[in-house]
Amino acid sequence: MILIVAGVSGSGKSTVGAMLAGRLQWRFADADNFHPAANIAKMRAGIPLTDADRWPWLQAIAAWMDERIAAGKSAVITCSALKRSYRDVLLDGRPAARMVFLTADRDQLARRLTARQGHFFPEQLLGTQLEAVEVPQPDERAVTVVSSAESPEDTAEAILAIIRPAEDAHPGAGRATGGDDEAHA
Ligand SMILES: Nc1ncnc2c1ncn2[C@@H]1O[C@H](COP(=O)(O)OP(=O)(O)O)[C@@H](O)[C@H]1O
Ligand SMILES: [Mg+2]
Repeated sequence: MILIVAGVSGSGKSTVGAMLAGRLQWRFADADNFHPAANIAKMRAGIPLTDADRWPWLQAIAAWMDERIAAGKSAVITCSALKRSYRDVLLDGRPAARMVFLTADRDQLARRLTARQGHFFPEQLLGTQLEAVEVPQPDERAVTVVSSAESPEDTAEAILAIIRPAEDAHPGAGRATGGDDEAHA
């Protein structure tokens, strides 16, 4: 299984994703690291990314997922996946992939981001994300909305409870071999 942990900034993707990868002994990747150089340059200059900028990024994430699937290995990857079109790129045609979309209320997100950055987090940035987000709809295959309002541990437990039955029904690689020996490579 490729588990994609999605949600806006501060929803807990990196924290919960890394925790899950550790618990499952699956390799972990953060989608932030898949941006092409042109996107990084734009972001550094404070220029918002367009959808056109995001396609090569999503394709790079998808290629990483496909490599893992082809190798018969499970993995956890974080990706904001704010829009349905982005989620579709990642999930369509990949039955081994599934997504949990983390949610928390605005005050909680603002508090976490402020604490994480050690200084005031520009409220505007969170506002932009909350305006852009398309919350997953019930007809979206393989996507489950999960609250991260409680602790990271509780959130991880809730996710494990969701993915375990799916793994048991269709044992993925990584499980059959007792894990991924490259998990922390
Ligand atoms: N239930 C929770 N799940 C995840 N993170 C939480 C939770 N509660 C508080 N946090 C804190 O929120 C902060 C932001 O989490 P992070 O994983 O960086 O979010 P993201 O990767 O989605 O931007 C972290 O400092 C984390 O410790
Ligand atoms: Mg993160």
